[in-house]
This record gives sequence, structure tokens and C-alpha cells, in this order.
Amino acid sequence: MKFKTIEWKGDWVKILDQRKLPQEVTYLGCRDASSVAQAIRTMAIRGAPAIGVAAAMGIALAAKKARFSNPRAFTRATEKVCQQMRETRPTAVNLFWAVERMKKILDQVPVCGVEETKKRLVKEAIQILGEDIEVNHKIGAYGKKLIKNGDGVLTHCNAGALATAGYGTALGVIYAAWGEGKRFHVFVDETRPQLQGARLTAWELLQEKIPVTVITDNMAGWLMKKGEINLVLVGADRIARNGDTANKIGTYSLAILSRYHSIPFYVVAPISTFDLSLASGRGIPIEERDVKEVTHFRGNPITPKGVKAFNPAFDVTPHSLIHSIITEKGLIREPFERNLKRIKA
Ligand code: MRU
Repeated sequence: MKFKTIEWKGDWVKILDQRKLPQEVTYLGCRDASSVAQAIRTMAIRGAPAIGVAAAMGIALAAKKARFSNPRAFTRATEKVCQQMRETRPTAVNLFWAVERMKKILDQVPVCGVEETKKRLVKEAIQILGEDIEVNHKIGAYGKKLIKNGDGVLTHCNAGALATAGYGTALGVIYAAWGEGKRFHVFVDETRPQLQGARLTAWELLQEKIPVTVITDNMAGWLMKKGEINLVLVGADRIARNGDTANKIGTYSLAILSRYHSIPFYVVAPISTFDLSLASGRGIPIEERDVKEVTHFRGNPITPKGVKAFNPAFDVTPHSLIHSIITEKGLIREPFERNLKRIKA
């Protein structure tokens, strides 16, 4: 990739500010955990795996800079930062998964001491980043077989290098197929209200010279009807045991459209996106963001003053609409719970 979404810089974290893309390629220099938390909250960095990496780095940063030599005081302060990270965004389970990994390292303080634990926390955060890139390449290798020469591939939101530590999940599949010499066309929903498709996915794919056409969210059905779409690839923010999948708002409608037109609908995600504590999608917390994202466009009102608006950031696609889930261990099909267990073993 020609850019890095997030980087550990020793005593600061460098984050590509996605709010400014594609007009400006600028970076945030986060020197403390609060500025990392703020970057996640305001979506300067977004995408389930990427916010997991950011949260881990925020914790590592706070730990590294902590002045406590007393293990209990150090633990208390670092646990507070873990909680601060958990409170940034509620839906993507990767964030909680990454915080949990950091918490397990923190729990070693009584045995390792403060200084050694600080080093281990930094190492763990860097490892989470590295593993994510590795996992995405594995996902790409499994998924690329599904794309054929001449296909039309539809994706939603951004599940690319920008949404991960690098390479991407749904876009990772596209990069892997393209890299092997297959030639096809990508369509991307603009993805109202934050326009991750129009701004971010289009920008990423153009960098790699992959042909992409942006459509508005309400055009997908018509394109399918015209026979332009052969498969749909989307990312995921949290997958329940039965395969129900939370992803960017609009994903559910796309899954219904795909079923109606007999087009395979694939979810692409690392195993860490499964939330095994949830039997079904009913328990997935759905973030609701400021309604101004709907009533305003780049700061300018587009609706009558005082009108009500609703702004859920994600929806849940029932497992019955999902052809398979493409993971780093291979493709998982119905029944998802049983097949997930089998593939993990
Ligand atoms: O609100 P966002 O931009 O963080 O939502 C991102 C998505 O919904 C992605 O599809 C998902 O996180 C998967 S990213 C590999």
C-alpha cells in the first residue's frame, strides 16, 4: 500500500486523518491516550480492526509515559485508559478484543513489575498491528478465488487498508485477485452519511489503479437488475455466533437486494470479529451518531430546520442472507456456529 493508516512512532502514534480524505492527506500526531481516544470517537481513524489497533496503541502510549513505580497505581491508571478506549465506539468488537489483549498483559504486573509490563504492552500493541496485516493477506488468499475475470464486484463503506492496519478485508480480497492478474470492475456505494465508500474506498482503489465506479446507495438494486453485479463483498464490525453480522448501515438492504437477485453476498472478516458471547445479532449494540451527520452536509444544513432525523451507524444482516464468511482460516458457511468451531479447531 502507498500509505499507512496507523504507525507506532516510539513515543507517539501517527494516524492518517480519514476525515480529510480524499481532499487532503494529513496525519495526526497523538502523544497521549486521550488524543487517540478522540481520533477514534471523531472517526479520524475508523473501521473495526483499525480502531482495535488504535485503542491498543493508546493504552501502550499511556503505559509507556506513566510515572508510577508502584504496581497498583500503575495498574489502576492503565485500567482507566482501557475503559476510556472501550467507551469510544460501541459496535466494533475488535476494539474490545484488542483492549482485552492489552488487559491480559497488564495483569502480569505483579509478576513482571512495572517497567517490564510497559515494554510488553508496547510489544503487544505493535504485534496486534502486525498480525492484522498478516491475517488480511490470508483472508485475501482465500477470497480471491471467488472473483472471476470480467466480474462486477459491489462493496459498501470501506473495509480496506484504511479500515485495518493495512491491506483490508473486503478490499484485501479485491487486491489479492487483482494482484494475480484477474481483471474485473468494482462498484462502491457512496455510503451515506459519512461517505466512506465515495471518499475512502474510491481513493484506495484508485491508488492501486483498480477500476472503480461510485454509486449512490439507492442505485445498487438497479445495477443488480441490469446484471452488472456478480458478487457482493462487505466487511463486518461484530458477528454473533449464529453468523448475524453488524456492519455499516445499508449493508442489510444490500443483502436483501442480493438475495432477490440471486447474487452471492459475502462477509469478509477476521475471526476476531466474532463475538462468541452473543448467540444472535439481537444483542449487538448499535451506535447512534449525531443526527447532524444526516441533516447537514459538510457543515451546511440540507433539511428543514428542526426536522427529526435518525442516524444509526450500523445495521445487522441476518445470517440467512449471508452466502459465507471469508476469514483467515477459510470460508465459513451455514450453520455458522458449528462450522466456526470446526474451522478454529
Ligand atoms: O463507522 P465506520 O467507518 O468505522 O464503519 C466501518 C465499517 O462498517 C466496516 O465495514 C467494518 O468496520 C469492517 S472494516 C474491515
